Amino acid sequence: CGIVGYVGSQEATPIILDGLRRLEYRGYDSAGVCTIAAGRAAVRRSEGKLINLERLVTEAPLTGTIGIGHTRWATHGKPSETNAHPHQAGSIIVVHNGIIENYLELKARLKADGREFKSETDTEVISHLIDEKYAATGTFVEAVRLALQELRGAYAVCILCEQEPNVLVAAKQGSPMVVGLGAGEFFVASDIPAILSHTREMVFLEDGEMVVFREGTPSFSRVTGEPLEKTSRHIDWSPLMAEKGGYKHFMLKEIFEQPRAIRDTIAGRLREEEGDVYLEDLRLSDCELREFDRICIVACGTSWHAALVGKFLLEEHCRIPVEVDIASEFRYRNPVVNDRTLMVLISQSGETADTLAAMREGKSRGARNVAICNVVDSSIAREATGVVYTHAGPEIGVASTKAFVTQLVALYLLTIRLGRAIGTIDAERGQAMITELVKVPALLEKTLEINDAVEKTARRYMNARDFLYLGRGINYPIALEGALKLKEISYIHAEGYPAGEMKHGPIALIDENMPVVVLVPRNSTYEKVLSNMEEVVARGGRVIAICSAGDREVADKAEETLAIPADGGELTSILLSVPLQLLAYHVAVLKGTDVDQPRNLAKSVTVE
Ligand code: G6P
Repeated sequence: CGIVGYVGSQEATPIILDGLRRLEYRGYDSAGVCTIAAGRAAVRRSEGKLINLERLVTEAPLTGTIGIGHTRWATHGKPSETNAHPHQAGSIIVVHNGIIENYLELKARLKADGREFKSETDTEVISHLIDEKYAATGTFVEAVRLALQELRGAYAVCILCEQEPNVLVAAKQGSPMVVGLGAGEFFVASDIPAILSHTREMVFLEDGEMVVFREGTPSFSRVTGEPLEKTSRHIDWSPLMAEKGGYKHFMLKEIFEQPRAIRDTIAGRLREEEGDVYLEDLRLSDCELREFDRICIVACGTSWHAALVGKFLLEEHCRIPVEVDIASEFRYRNPVVNDRTLMVLISQSGETADTLAAMREGKSRGARNVAICNVVDSSIAREATGVVYTHAGPEIGVASTKAFVTQLVALYLLTIRLGRAIGTIDAERGQAMITELVKVPALLEKTLEINDAVEKTARRYMNARDFLYLGRGINYPIALEGALKLKEISYIHAEGYPAGEMKHGPIALIDENMPVVVLVPRNSTYEKVLSNMEEVVARGGRVIAICSAGDREVADKAEETLAIPADGGELTSILLSVPLQLLAYHVAVLKGTDVDQPRNLAKSVTVE
């Protein structure tokens, strides 16, 4: 989502709309703006792209020199005008990015106190909470402080108060927020490009910090009250660089966003004490979940690779047979599917024609289904019985990265929920699985430190004509995905293979010209993969090994090693994905291809 706020002497609405337009790549399912003029707040909101809001504002203009705006990418609640920001409760008007984890609890309490909610969003809880504190204290800024301290989760918020019409407050916890300093005017935004055309002097808020604009001066403080001195930075990015958060390509930005994307996908869903998870849109009761005797996961492309990992997780923990199919194959082969089959459809876009058709095919045979989608209210999400949304945020790079890792997280969440419902996972096991999961974002951050080393590896191998990727068990699909990434963006032929199957064919290809990427982390098949790796070395092959940190044995044998943190447990697959994404990325950059929009590919394929 995107946020823009303005306070100064110019009309706020055109500045806010211009900022939102520059943020449209961040989300576009609804948008809204609020200004205050002559002590009265006025809000305009509309569903769909920004153009709809612009039309509305032309028909019913908004005046005022203070205002806030938002463009939304839905997380809680479908895209609609009622769920669009800003959200007003009493005198308080809020726009928000992020996810409030304890919003259901807070909402229940506020409702019990007689407050009425108009939307399904977690944001409306913030406006009510601040309004409640405002009614008690009579001071806007104090009310904001008290309310924010009750929130758990991530937020960047921008807030107005009708009774204090010259004050704008912004705060940050987990989601980005930047303040732009102009001559007698100030801007706030979730992202630099929104305000870059107005000022290049910027102050970055850190977690737990807020800013209050009152009578033309910003004052910075901690949410808890201690005042802060902040210094500004001069930003000399070009507008396009700014859109990519300073990264050279969207793909690289998205690779680096993965820890955040996973945190958002987990947020609010863990029930640590019960060793269970809460999946808000699953729409299948424990009783219904017990009725299934088979699971069929269907997807295309990268999502199909996630499906293959899902098979391992679900069979391991739920002891239900899982079949994985490519959507375009599934629909034409008279699949064995009935009312005791749970179909899981995985689609980042939620619009892939083959996946949609496979879902309909399954449905017509009586199967119920769950969709794992990144785009709220997309076609597949709308038609599915239940949905588990990945909260990766908009993915712009055609080659999927952050959507993939969040799909793996969604499958892990689904595994826990199903296992708990059918009794194959007890509370203690559930708790252990949750403990593993919450470690992942920090481990990923550590894994990303490998970037420079991968770039050097890419330089060494970029001229190869073919690559082979080997993995075993749960990491075999990760090898497939690594090969797909390289193919997609660098146009080098690459093949993924189960390491143990290599001896039945691809071994004939091994020579000093073909790099072999071997996924060999320390897990139950470690010894086996190691001997497969030795088979490659013995034939003069060049091995790039992705292994656990501190593995001397692998390092001694391989030509090149890239190490990931050793403590990823069952979710090591997620960590292994990172060096593979980066390898494909750097090779492509060195070859000079169009990384974000590779030839012949489309982000979402809505034709058969
Ligand atoms: C296209 C994209 C791939 C993607 C596949 C499935 O081919 O280029 O990156 O994996 O579609 O997309 P979906 O949105 O269904 O996950």
